Amino acid sequence: MEILCPSFYITYLSFSISYAMLWGFMEIVLATRNKKKVEEMSRILEGMDIVIRTLDDFPSCPEVEEDKDTFEGNAVKKAISIAECTNKIAVADDSGLEVYALNGAPGVMSARYSGENTGDAANIEKLLDEMRDIPDEKRVARFVCCIALAFPAGNFVTFVGFAEGKIGIEPRGRMGFGYDPVFYPAGYGRTFAEMTPGEKDALSHRGKAIEKLKDYLTRTISGD
Ligand code: IMP
Repeated sequence: MEILCPSFYITYLSFSISYAMLWGFMEIVLATRNKKKVEEMSRILEGMDIVIRTLDDFPSCPEVEEDKDTFEGNAVKKAISIAECTNKIAVADDSGLEVYALNGAPGVMSARYSGENTGDAANIEKLLDEMRDIPDEKRVARFVCCIALAFPAGNFVTFVGFAEGKIGIEPRGRMGFGYDPVFYPAGYGRTFAEMTPGEKDALSHRGKAIEKLKDYLTRTISGD
């Protein structure tokens, strides 16, 4: 699922990026207003010859509704909309938590699991409540992140990352955001919210998807 396009399309994408590089640097707009996500993405893309812009630089761009039923659908919709609005290369992600015993819920509803604008604590409370009778060995879950890179002309490429783990029985830790306080990455006795940002980046779904994006940009910039 990583790259969904035929090879001539990839060539066209590479050409679009190389063309952007001819002007001395590449500018990428991160199509999110979530400050934690901007921090995470900027940290991982640090050191590349890329100027990162955020939606704060383009206040007139519209809020994009996440109404698709897949992470990929939402990421592509957001990236294309912001690339068209800013006339620049845009990167958007959609991510969430999938709990196997809940048939993949909260999934694309992760941010709104307990209702609109209720917040992380309410989402965690609802999740723990839904899972109150699920024994430890069945509390398996994964975070999923799909990143879409889109051009103003509407062409795009996608990258996916996963973080496998388990859901605990009570929140632990104060770092991160969202479901971090109840998510134990596989092989660790600490939640994401008990890890430093660097530790989480190395294990997280978003970290893995951004590494794939970074690898793609590096190869494209160097012409490999
Ligand atoms: P979105 O990608 O902005 O739609 O966010 C989806 C939701 O999934 C977030 O609001 C969080 O509830 C959850 N989520 C996504 N990534 C993470 C993560 O790294 N840690 C904890 N929760 C996350």
